[in-house]
Amino acid sequence: MVTIMEKSQITLPVEELPAKWYNILPDLPEPLPPPKEPETGPPRAEFLARTMINECLKQEMANERWVLIPEEIRELYIHMGRPRPLYRAKRLEKRLGLKRVRLYYKREDLSPTGSHKTNTAVVQAYYALKEGKTTLSTETGAGQWGTALAYAAKLLDLECVIFWVKSVYDWKVDRRILMKLLGAKVYSSPSKETNIGREVLSKNPNHSGSLGIAISEGLEYAKTHKGCVYCLGSVLNHVLMHQTIIGLETIKQFDLIDEKPDLIIGCLGGGSNFGGIALPFIGEVLRGKRECEFLAAQSLAAPNLIKGEYRYDFCDVAEHTPLLKIYTLGHKIEMPPIKADGLRYHAAAPIISLLRHHNLVKAIAYPIDEKSIFEAAKIFLQNEGWLPAPESSYAIRAGIDKALEAERAGEEKVICMNISGHGFLDLMAYKEKLECR
Ligand SMILES: Cc1ncc(COP(=O)(O)O)c(C=O)c1O
Repeated sequence: MVTIMEKSQITLPVEELPAKWYNILPDLPEPLPPPKEPETGPPRAEFLARTMINECLKQEMANERWVLIPEEIRELYIHMGRPRPLYRAKRLEKRLGLKRVRLYYKREDLSPTGSHKTNTAVVQAYYALKEGKTTLSTETGAGQWGTALAYAAKLLDLECVIFWVKSVYDWKVDRRILMKLLGAKVYSSPSKETNIGREVLSKNPNHSGSLGIAISEGLEYAKTHKGCVYCLGSVLNHVLMHQTIIGLETIKQFDLIDEKPDLIIGCLGGGSNFGGIALPFIGEVLRGKRECEFLAAQSLAAPNLIKGEYRYDFCDVAEHTPLLKIYTLGHKIEMPPIKADGLRYHAAAPIISLLRHHNLVKAIAYPIDEKSIFEAAKIFLQNEGWLPAPESSYAIRAGIDKALEAERAGEEKVICMNISGHGFLDLMAYKEKLECR
């Protein structure tokens, strides 16, 4: 007989799907610095109010700690396989020779389009439809957010237009096909569809693109097309709040087996999957209900939390957005392409930045060659059997390193990694990085 403590898969029945999202704003150690208008140019907040979903902008500044998830959205969550399981990495533990350290991972890779991004995509599509919109525009880096929004738009019978960072658009042919199968229009960014795209191309016709440029294109497209709203897949407060469904489920799952994680790890680009798993736990730390540490795994291509400055900056290259107080490398910085392109963003979410400023979140960054990252992904695949997305493999690398460190120090530790996505549409990256032919 297998007891619940020994089970390697901890599942929640659908009735246990959380009914509310967690909003960390009232629990933060200091009020979140508000967005600011830059000294020159048109008013940015007004621009966002015209191009984004009203309900999401309202949620951006919500004061209440718990925000009810509309029943229709809970149904969509259940339809796409929530609650998702938490796994104990027993085979990986054995392979690493762990005796004192227990490793767990949350399965956001089990999403229909392959990542956690569907958790906010269906919410944004739902509110857009309620507000009478017909089209969603967006940017995408790794392609996971674009696919998630294309999926959500199709479920709710909306159009979807995606600006996809060129360096990734060019090689992720299979993911492009999936977006198109889901009915989306997909442009390589910088594109000729927008003023900002044309301007960048006129200076450099071979520009490899960046998330900052693609965001500017998505915003401009929404501004210039009737019935269209712009949706963002990371960084903003409401996106992180929608993603707390991950951490809220994970808390229930650990409670079920009477286990208390000491360290939560997620990869971090803008901060949505990391925030999603970590914020509900951080909230309990801030309210004196638990002790736990939090580690964000990054790339040295975009080590915003490590090498960035904590200051007001724009979220996009064309400076359409208001200024937000964020750890930033500068919104015009050029970052080298990496396979985990979803981690290549110049800044971290305001909420994560504030928590980092208060030393409640730690960060680690791995070399641009990504060798150690793909090695970790291979060990995970060969022992646990699941193929992680390149981005998620940063969390796995950090999880393995921290587990071995604790084991060597003779510490008992419980570590939980968030597997933000699967890698089935990233096999070309595996082929190249692991020389697998
Ligand atoms: C699978 C996956 N994980 C992580 C990320 C990083 O984004 P965020 O920091 O918002 O979770 C991305 C971004 O595209 C992604 O596709």
